[in-house]
Amino acid sequence: MNFTNQLLNWYKKHKRSLPWRTTVNPYYIWLSEIILQQTRIEQGLPYYEAFTTKFPTLKDLATADEDAVLKLWQGLGYYSRARNLHFTAQYIYKELNSVFPKSYAEIIKLKGIGPYTAAAIASFAYKEPIAVVDGNVFRVLARFFGIHDDIAVTKTRTIFQNLANELISTKHPDLFNHAIMDFGATVCLPANPKCNSCIFNENCFAFLKNEVAQLPVKNKKISVKNRYLNYLILRKNNEIVIQQRTEKDIWQQLFELPLFETSSDNEEELFIHLSNLYPNNNIKKVTANTIKHKLSHQQLHINFYEINISEFTSNQQTSAINDLHTYAYPIVIWNFLKDFFTLEKN
Ligand code: ADE
Repeated sequence: MNFTNQLLNWYKKHKRSLPWRTTVNPYYIWLSEIILQQTRIEQGLPYYEAFTTKFPTLKDLATADEDAVLKLWQGLGYYSRARNLHFTAQYIYKELNSVFPKSYAEIIKLKGIGPYTAAAIASFAYKEPIAVVDGNVFRVLARFFGIHDDIAVTKTRTIFQNLANELISTKHPDLFNHAIMDFGATVCLPANPKCNSCIFNENCFAFLKNEVAQLPVKNKKISVKNRYLNYLILRKNNEIVIQQRTEKDIWQQLFELPLFETSSDNEEELFIHLSNLYPNNNIKKVTANTIKHKLSHQQLHINFYEINISEFTSNQQTSAINDLHTYAYPIVIWNFLKDFFTLEKN
């Protein structure tokens, strides 16, 4: 039996039942795929439920406030996914009369949708025979076929895409795509794959040549930048200053507190600066330990400083402490605020 049929047979017996697999509604499939990017299924599931409940149709999402969408996304990270989701929902609603595009070639033109997501929507909703290529697919194919090209190099993707497009079942492209993803996620694992019970262990290149740990080849090292974020709790009675992040940077459109970013963890420099700005105020550091938060390419070092002030300035946006929960924050900031002010809401 060939690779494709073996894989489809395996899937019949071992498929995971997931809510987005029982629908052919492209809007739901799109939502699930955006949520699941860089996110584990267990973490993504409650967000999928929340989005489909709060925004049951594309129109509901398109006509929602961006802040409400970001609030529901809170905690998932990579917030540009949520902003693009909202932007594209509005585009389909306004420009395409709420009709979701029906082919891979049209779907991939949409903002926030790359080759992987376009293939997922086209195959799951419309049975177009175009293969999904993600980390799971790289791994399964690199090992089975013994492909040694570096998957960190952009053009390697084409090699895998072409191979997967040849392998895909033209009768059941949707099942093939589900199957290869599930196989990568449950059997052909990155570490400790289950080779001994694997259906392919008689013909898998990597298993037969003892190269399972070496494949797929991934060479590129990403460099991680350190950033030092010092947040100010500028407080007058039960009100504090908040601000929305508007720059093209991490956490765009999310809320935070007034920020002093420094180039190192040198606190002396920070205190000199703050005491110039707030000469008569007591500046109190309220994080006993620096909060460390890792993003894909950045290591954040975060501290909070409480400063009681007597007046807000007219350009400052403020929120009552009890209303803080109505804004969307990066999860690391929200966790701090909840804890610091003992807030109960999410
Ligand atoms: N990860 C990303 N998309 C997925 C899907 N449709 N099913 C399971 N895992 C996924």
